[in-house]
Amino acid sequence: SKFQIAVVVGSLRRDSFNQKLANAIMKLAPPEFSFKQSQIGDLPLYNQDDDDNPAEPVKRLKGEIAEAQGLLFVTPEYNRSMPGVLKNALDHASRPYGQNAWAGKPGGVIGASIGSIGTAIAQQHLRNSLAYLDVPTLGQPEAFIHVKEELFDEAGNIGNEDSRKFLQNWMDHYVVWVKRHTD
Ligand code: FNR
Repeated sequence: SKFQIAVVVGSLRRDSFNQKLANAIMKLAPPEFSFKQSQIGDLPLYNQDDDDNPAEPVKRLKGEIAEAQGLLFVTPEYNRSMPGVLKNALDHASRPYGQNAWAGKPGGVIGASIGSIGTAIAQQHLRNSLAYLDVPTLGQPEAFIHVKEELFDEAGNIGNEDSRKFLQNWMDHYVVWVKRHTD
């Protein structure tokens, strides 16, 4: 398809709500968009000594980002910030200096939490790093998803009408954003 999106999920948990959210919102995009999740769970801890000799998972991640027209980050909030696994992935693909794979790729940020402020602070911290990494990131609408029982149905779709409409609107804006930043 015309627009390939690299998806990065900030939780490695088997039953992750954010993984479920990622899976559900990918289905809300038009057919000209395809999504490929970049796995980050097997990345080593970032060590600048390895910049000249990156591990296979690091090369894979950077290759997937290079191929993509856009980025989609779906993340939980850990201790009022983004999870370390996500920051580790950001750091890996930003290096070596001058070879930042993220640069210029339009991005979207979304996240789900069982807490009532729904990842707002994690997303803000993530936006801070993305600004530095030269990722033009969709500003509005924001989406802070508070996970409740009925959020997902058995098929893994968004289970209630209000949330589905809200997330469809978010995706529609994300699609316009990616197109606007792709030549
Ligand atoms: C959390 N959780 C959490 N929630 C939140 O809204 N703000 C926070 O700062 C934190 N901090 C935090 C730290 C750590 C180490 C864990 C494990 C959890 C709760 C979090 O929202 C909840 O575990 C989600 O289910 C995590 O997302 P996934 O794994 O379901 O995608």
